[in-house]
Amino acid sequence: MFICPSILSANPTKLGDELISVEKAGADSIHWDVMDGTFVDAITFGHHIVAAHRKLSHLRFDVHLMVENPDRHLENFAQAGADVIIVHAEACWHLHRTLGDIKSLGKKAGVALNPATSIDDIAYCADLLDMVTVMTVNPGRAGQIFIEFQLKKIVELKKNLPPSVEICVDGGINDATIANCLQCGATSFVSGSCIFKSTDYSEAIKKLRKSIFS
Ligand code: DX5
Ligand code: ZN
Repeated sequence: MFICPSILSANPTKLGDELISVEKAGADSIHWDVMDGTFVDAITFGHHIVAAHRKLSHLRFDVHLMVENPDRHLENFAQAGADVIIVHAEACWHLHRTLGDIKSLGKKAGVALNPATSIDDIAYCADLLDMVTVMTVNPGRAGQIFIEFQLKKIVELKKNLPPSVEICVDGGINDATIANCLQCGATSFVSGSCIFKSTDYSEAIKKLRKSIFS
C-alpha cells in the first residue's frame, strides 16, 4: 500500500525541506496538486516548481492536474519529472486521446473522478489506464471531510478494472477513513493535512499504515 503525501498542505515557504522530510518519514510518492483557478477556484503551482524539486527526491512524483484542458500542459509536466500524470475526466474533451498522449510521453496515465462522476465515463479508456483516482472530496482544497458514499465507487472500480490498475483515493484520508478505503479495494492513499498538520511526519505515516490493520 502506497502513502502519497500531498505537498499542497506542506509549509509553502520551505517546500524542499518538507519534501525531504516526508521522504525520510516513509512516504511512497509525492502528490502535487496543480490548480488553475478555472477547473477549481484556487491557483497553486506549475511545472517550474515541480521541476525545481525533482532532484531533491527519488520518490515517484504524481502530478494531479486540476486544470481545464490539461493537454496544453502534459509535455511541460513530463519534462519537469512527473512519473504519473493524472487528469480529470471532467476536464478533458477527448479523454482517450489525452491518456494516450501521456503514455506517449513515457509517463503513467491516471484519471481522477470527481465525486459526481460515474465509473462509466472511463469504461472505454481502461486499456490506457495505470491509475484511477477516486476523489473522496470535491477537488480544490485540502482539509475537507471524506465523502463516505464514494466507497461504493472504489468497490465498482475494483470489480471492473484489471488488477494492474492502481486505485488511488484522494481527499479526507486519515486514521479514521483509510481502512474502509483499503477494504473496498484502494491501493494508494493521498493524504495532505493529516500528515503535514501533524508534528511528526514519520509517526503520522506509521499511524496511517497501522490504522489499516486495526
Ligand atoms: C484536493 C486535492 C487533495 C488534497 C488532499 O483537491 O486533490 O490532494 O490535497 O488534502 P486532504 O488530505 O487534507 O484532504
Ligand atoms: Zn490531489
